[in-house]
Amino acid sequence: MKKEITFRLNRKDYTIEVDPGARMIDVLRDQLNLRGTKEGCGVGECGACTVVIDGKAVTSCLVSAAQMDGRDIMTVEGLSETEIGSILQKCFIQYGAVQCGYCTPGMLMSAYALLLHNDNPTREEIRDAIAGNLCRCTGYVQILDSIEKARDEYLAKA
Ligand code: FES
Ligand code: FES
Repeated sequence: MKKEITFRLNRKDYTIEVDPGARMIDVLRDQLNLRGTKEGCGVGECGACTVVIDGKAVTSCLVSAAQMDGRDIMTVEGLSETEIGSILQKCFIQYGAVQCGYCTPGMLMSAYALLLHNDNPTREEIRDAIAGNLCRCTGYVQILDSIEKARDEYLAKA
């Protein structure tokens, strides 16, 4: 049976009907047509599907549609509307953090969640924040560098 859920997504309010057992990633991609969130492993291990729920980075392949009810959700589509997100996106491109791009939305969301709560993280803290996000292309150095640059730019503006 369908269930009505209400949530905030990328700063807009939504009320939609879902199959409560459906996965959040499918609601985002198939029902709401937000295809920036990627599916890799489907079992919580690659981080490609990472979104931010109530300020925390979460793998959306492990969240049910019912668990979206009442939450404040940010996906990669909403990032450019935020100051931290737009700086992160610019730095990822500028400092070579994007190769095939499959991991990029999830990486950006994990970095965004980190900078939301800690505007001056160390490289170690950045490394920890993206530990659940796998990248097959970059070797991670450019990603860490890009997040550091974004941190510095964000701090300089604050
Ligand atoms: S697709 Fe969700 S963690 Fe890999
Ligand atoms: S850029 Fe290809 S998986 Fe990260």
